[in-house]
Amino acid sequence: MKKAIYPGSFDPVTFGHLDMIVRSAKIVDELIVSVLRNSAKNALFSIEERVSMLEEMTKDIPNVTVRSFDGLLIDHARDMDANLIIRGLRAVTDFEYELQIAQTNRIVNPQVDTMFLTTSLEYAYLSSTIVKEVASYGGDISHFVPEHLIARIYAKYRE
Ligand code: PNS
Repeated sequence: MKKAIYPGSFDPVTFGHLDMIVRSAKIVDELIVSVLRNSAKNALFSIEERVSMLEEMTKDIPNVTVRSFDGLLIDHARDMDANLIIRGLRAVTDFEYELQIAQTNRIVNPQVDTMFLTTSLEYAYLSSTIVKEVASYGGDISHFVPEHLIARIYAKYRE
């Protein structure tokens, strides 16, 4: 059975992430979407909020579960008994960093591989950072995130 982890910050989850999740879930038997608990990062949404947003968005995909993790991704993969990490590549700018991380992870644990999927073209420009930037100025984010998240994102900037 192929069990994989799709890790990220998901602050907030976007259509680009959802596209990756849907496609990855078709490739593997079990997909764990893992949210990094990183207190150093100044996150817009709490871990609990991010996990619940992801659960809501993936509730109809039976082989997807959502978790959070602390520390190194490669250790989390071992703890979850997963031997595959899936990451999306939007553009060549993602590549250098992702390659370095994947190679580091493989040195630490050669049992775990990293697989890259190229982002669907319609989401190649999209990132959580872009969503936050547009939302912070009250711009239209309906092309970036599902309808039910829009009000929650704007609300963060009114708090
Ligand atoms: O959505 P993001 O912010 O691009 O996700 C990055 C993430 C969470 C995959 C990456 O930062 C990560 O794996 N962090 C955990 C610490 C770790 O294992 N770092 C890589 C080895 S140096």
